[in-house]
Amino acid sequence: MAAFIFLGITFIPIGLSHLSASDHVVELIDRYDEDCIPVDNSNSEAAYNKRIGYIQDVKTDKTCTRTLIVPKKMKHPIFVYYQLDDFYQNHRRYVKSRNDEQYRNPAADHKTAHCEPESMNNDNQPIVPCGLIAWSLFNDTYSFSVNGNSLPINKKGIAWESDKTHKFGSKVYPKNFQSRSLIGGAKLNESIPLNQQEDLLVWMRTAALPNFRKLYGRIETDLEANEMIKVVINNNYNTYTFKGKKKLVISTTTWIGGKNDFLGKVYITVGGICLFIAVAFISVYLIRPRPLGDPAYLSWNLDPASN
Ligand SMILES: *[C@@H]1O[C@H](CO)[C@@H](O)[C@H](O)[C@H]1NC(C)=O
Ligand SMILES: *[C@@H]1O[C@H](CO)[C@@H](O)[C@H](O)[C@H]1NC(C)=O
Repeated sequence: MAAFIFLGITFIPIGLSHLSASDHVVELIDRYDEDCIPVDNSNSEAAYNKRIGYIQDVKTDKTCTRTLIVPKKMKHPIFVYYQLDDFYQNHRRYVKSRNDEQYRNPAADHKTAHCEPESMNNDNQPIVPCGLIAWSLFNDTYSFSVNGNSLPINKKGIAWESDKTHKFGSKVYPKNFQSRSLIGGAKLNESIPLNQQEDLLVWMRTAALPNFRKLYGRIETDLEANEMIKVVINNNYNTYTFKGKKKLVISTTTWIGGKNDFLGKVYITVGGICLFIAVAFISVYLIRPRPLGDPAYLSWNLDPASN
């Protein structure tokens, strides 16, 4: 009973503080993949083919303007993420399609084992960085403005420090990247070493679940309630072939991170169950207490003569 009461009265306040922190996070989510394509969004085969045709046509202008309204004051740093739904970065053959030695060691650019089909270009020269993960690098871009003034996004420091210092080399430069006929995503600037291509580093930490967010950058100023943010999106990335969704997420954080009610609810549920069990045990104890055993009946206390 004491243990259950203790668990109950510690877990419930922890859960409440998580929920209240999560409640203080201001989050704006804008799904734009459907609205940023001027063709029919229905489910028919013909509409599907038209969407693919549109997104794969390199000549069309794919900019798209969205207006977001800040619901509550947002204190900096404000994080900007892109969210992809139904993108299985966790597929076994996709996750393995990389060569870490090539990414780290400038003398190993010919090492493209495991990278097929993105290992060599058409002239049989190795692709750096090789593999499907790098090849499919996200290539939508966002630029923000408020009241006609551009709102800068800081894209420095979005990748893991250990990726920059250990996993990706400071002397490894992209080569032959996206040079084949089927382009998978963003191109890389060949004069910037891999360890400073932070978008690539963020992308290469593959997500464990099919719906995921990745950090795009940070806004270093506060946003006031009801301000209108104009976002110009370059809607390049092809999620239309596999019917994935694209969302832009702008969010503040607190000590628990971003908006997440799950942990708080789990604490409250477990704490509640513990308190319930404690109360049940206490009432059973009060209503029908179990009498203590009479030691006189223990076999070794019985008088052998009476047996
Ligand atoms: C962006 O990626 C898509 C594939 O998802 C590709 O078809 C397109 O050519 C790329 N566009 C740019 C501008 O990099
Ligand atoms: C590539 O990076 C270099 C060095 O930062 C820069 O001067 C150059 O303009 C970039 N090229 C492109 C195409 O962005």
